[in-house]
Amino acid sequence: MKQLEPVRVGLLGLGTVGGGVVNVLKRNQSEIARRAGRGIVVTHAAARETNFPGVDTAGIETSTDAFAMVERPDIQIVVELIGGYEPARELVLRAIASGKHVVTANKALIARHGNEIFAAAQKKGVMVAFEAAVAGGIPIIKALREGLAANRIEWVAGIINGTTNFILTEMRDKGRAFADVLAEAQKLGYAEADPTFDVEGIDAAHKLTILAAIAFGIPLQFDKAYTEGISVITPEDVGYAEQLGYRIKHLGITRRTEKGIELRVHPTLVPERRLIANVDGVMNAVLVKGDAVGPTLYYGAGAGREPTASAVVADLVDVTRTLTSDPGNRVPHLAFQPDCLSDIPLLPMEEVETAYYLRMRAADRPGVLADVTRILADSGISIEAVVQKEPDPAAREASVIMLTHRVPERRMNEAIARIEALDTIAGKVTRIRLETLAAN
Ligand code: HSE
Repeated sequence: MKQLEPVRVGLLGLGTVGGGVVNVLKRNQSEIARRAGRGIVVTHAAARETNFPGVDTAGIETSTDAFAMVERPDIQIVVELIGGYEPARELVLRAIASGKHVVTANKALIARHGNEIFAAAQKKGVMVAFEAAVAGGIPIIKALREGLAANRIEWVAGIINGTTNFILTEMRDKGRAFADVLAEAQKLGYAEADPTFDVEGIDAAHKLTILAAIAFGIPLQFDKAYTEGISVITPEDVGYAEQLGYRIKHLGITRRTEKGIELRVHPTLVPERRLIANVDGVMNAVLVKGDAVGPTLYYGAGAGREPTASAVVADLVDVTRTLTSDPGNRVPHLAFQPDCLSDIPLLPMEEVETAYYLRMRAADRPGVLADVTRILADSGISIEAVVQKEPDPAAREASVIMLTHRVPERRMNEAIARIEALDTIAGKVTRIRLETLAAN
């Protein structure tokens, strides 16, 4: 093999993931060079901190000036690990303008500004790689974009936020309270800087937006994603779901339908026998249904120092291998050729069709259940199961739990509004969507 000079890399951010990238590149350097065809070395890092515990910074020039670093002529690849929208966007665009390839783990940046960033990269003939942006160490971008390139993808459903999966698992297994588990996820370093991004599903929606673009060849459209968090889920719902043979998972789901593409993040009941229903703690998993391959499942660590570094370094190897290739012959950023993207619309949530779990508190009086089932029947909603829990004699109320067949969300919204208006129903009806995730 002809000996080439090592590729020189500049890191933006030398925290948890940046430190992991440095350590993995050093530890596995000879194996990585054998794969990439030349060495890959971090020569520069720009970071706010000046102390880097657990990171061997020998040979790395560190500074606090990120803007100067992205324009250095002696760096070929910039790795962006600072997260958030700005100044990450500005730094990445400047790196591209100065002819650098970019590797990023920033899902928010790609989901919201990816169209602009990829257009700039295309014009300049540089690569922007983002494997670490979705599901940490799981190579899901590569699997969807390259491994499944023969398929017409039908749907993707994933546990793509470790923090919410950890919270739901702890609620189920130990009956722990929501706030207490969230605090632990923050301490473990899994939660986003603003944990409402995790809890309200924004982080998962960022990742799902990216998966949808690659699965279906559509532009990134984060603003059209439907997002619902897990703060409405009570230990009671987790328990009832379990009794009915389901687990509650916070899923990102994107599906191709005749009317358009669904793009939605929300708590979901999943049959407990599905593998994905058994993905617990901070682990991530993505289930992809292709027309040729059928369902495939990808599982692994969705966050953490070295799992995320694993994805970043794989991107560095990819970029290094194709440094000298004609930009027109590289794998397209969003899997499909940029002039072949589809304008198939994203479906508003009201038009999405799913099954439902409903829980309501009903007065312990004759005819109450009949009123509820009549409303559902009037809306053409078919009931699959009904469970009434022993009435609470003091409150003279009973919890009623129902599972329904699939129905468009608009019809369910109308039915729920009518049920809530009954004077025999107390408070709000809890509604959790249900997906069988069956192979057919
Ligand atoms: N906050 C994210 C999670 C980190 O909990 O999955 C990885 O993107």
